[in-house]
Formats: sequence, C-alpha cells, structure tokens
Amino acid sequence: MLSKHHWWRDAVIYQVYVRSFLDSTGDGIGDLAGVRAGLPYLKKLGVDGIWLSPFYPSPQHDHGYDVADYCDVDPLFGDLAEFDLLVAAARRLGIKVLLDIVPNHCSSEHPWFREALESAPGSTARARFHFADGRGPDGGEPPNNWHAMFGGPAWSRVGDGQWYLHMFTPEQPDWNWRDPEVTAEFDRVLRFWLDRGVDGFRIDVAAGLYKHPELPDSDDPEADARTRDSVNPLAWNQPEVHEVWRRWRSLCEEYTARDGRERLLVGEVSVPTAREHALYVRPDELHQAFFFDLLGAPWDADAFRKVISEAMQDIAGTGSTVTWVLNNHDQVRTVTRYGEPATEGSGLGAARARAAALLMLALPGAAYIYQGEELGLPEVVDLPDDVLTDPIFRRTGSRARIRDGCRVPLPWSGQASPFGFTSGAESAKPWLPQPEYFAEYATDRALADTRSFWHLYRDGLQLRSSLPQLGEGTLQWLDTPPGVLAFSRGDGLVCAVNFGTAPTPAPVSGTPLLSSGPCPAGVLPAATAAWWLSDL
Ligand code: NOJ
Repeated sequence: MLSKHHWWRDAVIYQVYVRSFLDSTGDGIGDLAGVRAGLPYLKKLGVDGIWLSPFYPSPQHDHGYDVADYCDVDPLFGDLAEFDLLVAAARRLGIKVLLDIVPNHCSSEHPWFREALESAPGSTARARFHFADGRGPDGGEPPNNWHAMFGGPAWSRVGDGQWYLHMFTPEQPDWNWRDPEVTAEFDRVLRFWLDRGVDGFRIDVAAGLYKHPELPDSDDPEADARTRDSVNPLAWNQPEVHEVWRRWRSLCEEYTARDGRERLLVGEVSVPTAREHALYVRPDELHQAFFFDLLGAPWDADAFRKVISEAMQDIAGTGSTVTWVLNNHDQVRTVTRYGEPATEGSGLGAARARAAALLMLALPGAAYIYQGEELGLPEVVDLPDDVLTDPIFRRTGSRARIRDGCRVPLPWSGQASPFGFTSGAESAKPWLPQPEYFAEYATDRALADTRSFWHLYRDGLQLRSSLPQLGEGTLQWLDTPPGVLAFSRGDGLVCAVNFGTAPTPAPVSGTPLLSSGPCPAGVLPAATAAWWLSDL
C-alpha cells in the first residue's frame, strides 16, 4: 500500500492540441491565450491536468514536432509572458500543466543543426547529429538502408556529400544522444520549463533517442513506414535510452525535494510488447508511459480483455499505473474508428465510443482524453487534398490521409464555421476547414444537453473522484457471456460493457449509477457500458 497519494497515478489529463483548441488573435490558429480562456471549461469538465502539444518556435513542418528553439514560444502561439499567465491561471484552478518535449529530433532550423551544416565532416558540431559518409563509389548511396517513419529514405545528403539521419521528415534531424552535449542541453531545457512552474512533460518518441551504434542495415528497412510504428529494432528501443529516463527522473525529483510538488514524466513509448513497455516505467525511470494497445484494439470483447489483462499484469507490477488512451492527435477518432461502416458520426460508432470511454474511466490507472473526445467529435473524413498539412500525406506521395481529420479546430458555439473557434471576423478561417455538421457538437450545445458526450465524461470524472480507490489496485473479471465484459473494482464499483449487437442480462441488478446510453434495470443493451455500485 502506498503511504502517500501520488497525484499522477490516477490522473485524468486532457490533451490540448494548441493550434486547434481556441484562437484568441483571429488568425485562424489556436494559441496559448486561447488555452487560458478555455481553462474554466476544462475545470468544469473535471480534468486533473492538461498536456500542451508543442508550441515552441518551429517552421511547423510537423506541426511543432520540429523544434527550432526548445526554450521559447512561437509567435504563432503567443510568448513567454503569455505562457507564464497560462501556468499561473491553471495553478489557481488546480489544473496541472504538462509540456510536450521532443528529444529524438529537432528542426533543421535549429541553430545547432545549422552550425552542423556549416561545419566540416568530423567536427564537434556534426557529432551532435548522425552525419555519415555514403556508400558506393562516390558515396552517393545512403549510409544504410533504413526508411523513415513517414515514408522515404531516413537519410538526406548535404552539400559536401555527407548524409544525415532523420527517422521522420528531412526537416527533423535526429539528435545523437551519444554526444554528451546533447544530454547536457536537454537538462538545461527541462530546468528552463521546470523553473517556470510546469508539472511535467509528455515525452515524444520516448523509445527513440539512441540508435544501434554501428547503424547497420536492417533486414526489413521499410517496416516502420509500412506499420507506421517504431518497429526497426536497430533504430528504436536501444538499452541506453533507459539511462536518460533515470537522469530525467532524478532531475524531477530534485525539484520535488525543493518544493514538495511531484513532477510527472509520461512517455510516448511504442514498443512491441507490454513487457518491454514495463521496463520504461520502472521506479527510477518514467512515471508513466501511454499504453497504446487499448487504442489499437478493435471493437471486440476478447481483444479488449486481452490488452487490459496484459497491461494489468505487466505494467501494474512495476509500481507504476497503466496509462490508458483511446484517442490522440495521431489517430482516427473513436467515434469513426468504431463505426461500421466508418462514416462521420455514425450512431453505432458514437454509442461504442461512449461505452469505451466509460470502460476506460473505470480502469485502474491514469487516463488521457484528447480534445474533442469529450464532445464525441467524429473524424473529418472528407477534407480536400489541398488543405491537408500532415507531412505523412506529402511523404507518401498523397496516399496516406491520416492525421488531419482528427486535428480540425474545435467547435465552441454557433451554427456556422468558425463556430466560435476564432475571435476574428466571421470571415476568419480556421487553419483546417470545419464541416457544417460540427454545429451539432459545439461545446455550448453539449453543455446544455444532459445526454451529450460531454455530460457522460463530466459525470464519469465526478464519480471517479468520489470513489478514491478507483485509480489504484486491480480489477476482477466477472463471468459473462461471449461479447460482454464485466469487472469489479475497489469501492464496490462494477463496470460492464456489451460489445455485441443484442441486449444481454446485466451482471448486477438495479439501476446503474451511470451508463453510456439508456439502460433499464436488469438489461445491458448492445454497444452500451454501465457502472453499478454493488457488494458482489
Ligand atoms: C509522435 C507525435 O505524436 C507525432 O505527432 C509526431 O509527428 C511524431 N512523434 C514525430 O515527432
């Protein structure tokens, strides 16, 4: 039993994709002042903290995941003074603030990369990145056969004939973490933001950073691009990376020792098995790592049960808690993903997404909600090619339309775009076009309708915080017919989900405390989840 409550263990964190949250300047792009204006909305929803997607100076080739300066704010999003106001306002409301830190790669506009380009092969400036001579008679072939995650070769050639490594786009050169200057620079970056009062960091590509020291050829060089996952065993998940997380953990603990505020490191860890994932959350490494297997599971009772059981067994055993996630800015939204067929806002997809949300909020551990998830926003599937900005679209020769549809700016109010997203004139255009049907999902309508997704999330979060043991401990599976999952939790909570297409008897008698759809006593309708209090 833990002697002290660690806030992050059962926290519900809301991911703010800054450029699509709320625009305070009228340029059609969300900003930090917009996030500050939205804090009361988030407080009402009941989240414990926010994670801000990257807002640092950046040429925006990958929407800020190409950082040119780790210690400033891009004028697109505000400035450091506005950032300080945001942190102070969040602190007053009791909302923690996590930043998104990008240590695997930077922008090709970063001053150190520019210096590397201007320096000679073999120089200390080049040693901070992966520069190498090419193969073939004139060095015209890349140093190895790796492909980048977003498509195309992982190497680009520079003027003097050398090549540099980029596991994402050519505008995102990978840092060489074997260079001590890189380690020291990131210590400085962490301290810069911790000194400004942040509560922790979401770490981008946390299984990256180190590459196999010899950069050998891969047996399956296109595997990353094919699976869109970090599966090249030579480019990711190298043992040395754990040393970095130990270092960052002790740096955070140094701050906690000073002021008693516990800081959180949550990693975007994409590794093949739950067991390997567990290594990243050992007690002296990251506090948490997103468990993406739930997000990757199809709408199927057996698939959900398998990933939940594996996570509980392998991750909970480390002393961390599982960090559940159903949506983020890289994935098709649940309403559409679970829809059959995948159409915008299909009733079935929405019912399943509501059920999945109640399931997630009943599980032990922490949960992350991606902005718009609480509104039941569907994926925008019909954006015209000429507005798409995701580099994956460009890098795959316009074949993969993946990440723009979940990044469309939020609707706040009104009947027509920009739906209150931008404070500019009516002609102000959000950076991605909002479909007309977003009117149905606007926050003002959601707040006024007790049957909305918003109320389901708010009620789930309220109940969660009134059942303090819910975030900790284990779950016990109950016997259920095929296609149905039910489990009991601390404080007598029972959660059941009917993944099937016909009603089934409820595992508990009486009216549920909360359900994702109409749920008469004794019955669990199709595509519905419910919570009961019971002494089962
Ligand atoms: C993962 C982020 O979530 C994604 O949006 C980004 O493109 C890649 N990492 C590269 O930084």
